[in-house]
Amino acid sequence: ETVEWEAASYDMGGHDTYMHKEISEQPDAVDRVLRGRIDDRFSTVHLGGLNLDAREARSIRRIKILGCGTSYHAGLIGAGLIESMARIPADAEPASEFRYRNPVVDPDTLYIAVSQSGETYDVLAAVQELKRKGARVLGVVNVVGSAIAREADGGMYVHAGPEVCVVSTKCFTNTVVAFALLALHLGRIRDLSVTDGKRIIEGLRRLPGQIEEILKSEDDIKKLAKEYAGAQSMMFIGRVRGYPVALEASLKLKEISYIHAEAYPASELKHGPLALIEPALPTVAIVPDDDLLEKNRAALEEIKARSGRILAVAHQTQEKADHTIVVPKNEDELDPILMGIPLQLLAYHTALAMGRDIDKPRNLAKSVTVE
Ligand code: AGP
Repeated sequence: ETVEWEAASYDMGGHDTYMHKEISEQPDAVDRVLRGRIDDRFSTVHLGGLNLDAREARSIRRIKILGCGTSYHAGLIGAGLIESMARIPADAEPASEFRYRNPVVDPDTLYIAVSQSGETYDVLAAVQELKRKGARVLGVVNVVGSAIAREADGGMYVHAGPEVCVVSTKCFTNTVVAFALLALHLGRIRDLSVTDGKRIIEGLRRLPGQIEEILKSEDDIKKLAKEYAGAQSMMFIGRVRGYPVALEASLKLKEISYIHAEAYPASELKHGPLALIEPALPTVAIVPDDDLLEKNRAALEEIKARSGRILAVAHQTQEKADHTIVVPKNEDELDPILMGIPLQLLAYHTALAMGRDIDKPRNLAKSVTVE
């Protein structure tokens, strides 16, 4: 499988920064990761490069996903997608930690390495260690022909296109969509019904249009960013599927605005971080309209009772929040993909309002090829 990046992809195309360009490209990028893979006849997807036949896919007992930074966060969402659709126990771990705890490498576990660049040393070294021990490793990678793609036993390209900005945006989104495809594929080989397969496929097809819709609210998000740009620190919360969205949004804000940010599962607030809540510490809350809505609302009440300011990302206006960014609803499983996008714009406009060098934040490199 080869994809040629055109020189035009590196052009700023009228945008002031690569980050803005790459955020704006997401409807097309998502379209690309879906293209040619959906099989309506069997309500599944074809992933030719996995090198994993149906019998092998059925014998997997666990899935362990490894990646760093944003790719690790995409892996956390991916693990949730695999567990809910394919009912295979799955989790994600920072690849940078994995090697150093002498992990038990189990022959019935499928390992998945996630990387935009395909060159991150910590991920590559984890792949090499796993392969040396006889494990099967797949790659979920953006850059075609990169070291991790070559080293893996198979995998899938996420087709986000070239990502120039040091902070990852469109590749995060595409990686999560790629995981949704993998989860659907594994699910349909195992116990996911045709009806659920169809429901997910219809949801996937709605994504590009819904992302387009979210991008139209950029002016409103820009105004909100000005309100929050003065904060010394920010809290991000989400529950289950929403928690990795909170982690990623908090990383994005840190990387480009240098505002301190923390991400916590909303359920953990009462076990400690609630002590931090006061008017000077705004909270960004991920509040999807799913079976956890009431639980998430209860967390908003707790924060409000401590006079905390709240910006909610939700499917409907949240009464307890000071502001709500309303995003379109998709299937519950796919909601995290959409809920991260306005928060990329929030980080972007916050950093812009603070005069930061958005495409090249201090102390960071696009790909970390050393230990
Ligand atoms: C993302 O915004 C980061 N700058 C960083 O966390 C990055 O995701 C990480 O270094 C992994 O890179 P990779 O996906 O190219 O392996």
